[in-house]
Amino acid sequence: MKKILILNGSPRKNGKTAALVKAFTEGAESSGNEVKELYLQGMKIGGCLACEACSKNGGQCVQKDDMSKVNEAVEWCDVIVFASPMYWGTITGQLKITVDRLYAEFNKLGWGGFNRETALLMTARGDFYQQALDFYGIFINMMNWKNWGTVLGSEKEDEARKIGASIN
Ligand SMILES: Cc1cc2nc3c(=O)[nH]c(=O)nc-3n(C[C@H](O)[C@H](O)[C@H](O)COP(=O)(O)O)c2cc1C
Repeated sequence: MKKILILNGSPRKNGKTAALVKAFTEGAESSGNEVKELYLQGMKIGGCLACEACSKNGGQCVQKDDMSKVNEAVEWCDVIVFASPMYWGTITGQLKITVDRLYAEFNKLGWGGFNRETALLMTARGDFYQQALDFYGIFINMMNWKNWGTVLGSEKEDEARKIGASIN
């Protein structure tokens, strides 16, 4: 049983990304995992300032905003799932800003300590996911996180459910 955090970057609560998240959650819970979703739209999360304070002070960000809720959940979980519609070839700003801000958590926990597993759930009108996959690949390779899978496309709820259920 694992603790799974879903970072949902879609601004639409009942949209296509939400449908993938729901199916993934059903699958994951059916295998005994615990799932928590953070819906990023509406959370106040400022972009990384690149001030490097967090790299010198043990991972404390100078910005006092809702990222503290994300960090708390990140420290709680074993698996981080990124969920997003595609906007201009990649993930939404809501999710990208949040991933950028994980830099402070990385500085707090360090290379060895920030071990997580991961998955990617995305929807798009078209079928060109390469830019998003490049972003995801670069990030998780740098972090050395295990990838449980990527679900790319609306109406792939069965695939999302299966990947969720496979996590153990
Ligand atoms: C600002 C914006 C940019 C988008 N860019 C793309 C894109 O580059 N490629 C694509 O296939 N779909 C694009 N779309 C369509 C969405 O990715 C697609 O409708 C998605 O499934 C919506 O997910 P949601 O229901 O969770 O909002 C874009 C939509 C918006 C609003």
